[in-house]
Amino acid sequence: MTIKKTNEQVASLSETASHFDNKWWTREDAISQRLNIVKDLLKMLDGERVNLITSARIINRAFLTCDFINKKVKKGSNILEMACGYGFVTHVLTEKGYNVNAFDISKESISSAREEALNLSQKPESFHIENEKYLSKLEDDSLDVIIGLGYLRYLKKDAQDFVYKNARRILKPDGILIIDHQNDLYEMFALNNESIIFWNNLISSYCDLSSILEKDELLNKLTKSISTPIRERKGHSFSGSFEVASENPLTYKDKAKSYGFVLNDILYPHCDILPPFLHNDINKKKLDLIQREYCLKLSRDWKSMFMCYQFLTFLKKTNSNL
Ligand SMILES: C[S@@+](CC[C@H](N)C(=O)[O-])C[C@H]1O[C@@H](n2cnc3c(N)ncnc32)[C@H](O)[C@@H]1O
Repeated sequence: MTIKKTNEQVASLSETASHFDNKWWTREDAISQRLNIVKDLLKMLDGERVNLITSARIINRAFLTCDFINKKVKKGSNILEMACGYGFVTHVLTEKGYNVNAFDISKESISSAREEALNLSQKPESFHIENEKYLSKLEDDSLDVIIGLGYLRYLKKDAQDFVYKNARRILKPDGILIIDHQNDLYEMFALNNESIIFWNNLISSYCDLSSILEKDELLNKLTKSISTPIRERKGHSFSGSFEVASENPLTYKDKAKSYGFVLNDILYPHCDILPPFLHNDINKKKLDLIQREYCLKLSRDWKSMFMCYQFLTFLKKTNSNL
């Protein structure tokens, strides 16, 4: 389900590329991420959870992805990372003995990823400035794992379709696709004006109510009766300017199946713990410590299904013909 928001547009590919520009990559949290995350991820994979610098919000989904591969996938396997950003997942998996290539639409992020590869004595040419069309260049049944973190939400429906179909074609039998999604159900927990839109969409899509309610009457009634804060949209946030695709974790297995994948696992890497409108008045450092202590432990808890704005899925290619 994609929640329609007024005054928003769906981004074109060139707009996506220009959003992830120098301004995006020089945000304070982005720089801290670039400088510390490879070291922190390697420490976490070795079981160390203290003295980490990168926040839980930033590191958890990358950790859960690398941890799964490190434990379950044979060393030397062929891996592709889509929309790699600074490339830290690729750097870490390369350090752990995997053969990883990566692409991203942003030349700034790839230039930084190549620089870090050189620092780590890895191959900078593993990083490509490309969008999803890069997948067309890859051979059938050639990869063991494909990763895309913080990626599909930015793609329009036809581009998402292209990614799923090509990922299935390129993966070896039993190959794994690890991707995350914006979580539809988080709107319930956010308790802001968009939660009202969520309930309106849910109720309206259940059955035909035209005999008891006029068009838009339900939304008007809900908005009038329930007072909520207005969602704040941060300047650098993509969803502040464009519509973002989201999925429902309760039904996502059917979508996975329609593309020839079995949904093996769903994890909720990082919860907000408090609805976002309460975050302004809270000590962020202390909240981060609580998130660091609890979010990974609770990454399968049912409450996280509402409190986490994204969910991470592990899909296995099925061998039956579609
Ligand atoms: C939120 S960042 C995630 C980066 C990284 N995967 C991570 O986990 O931190 C989104 C990334 O998607 C990239 N991106 C957006 N649209 C893209 C497209 N069509 N093709 C390739 N990369 C894209 C952006 O340049 C950016 O690096």
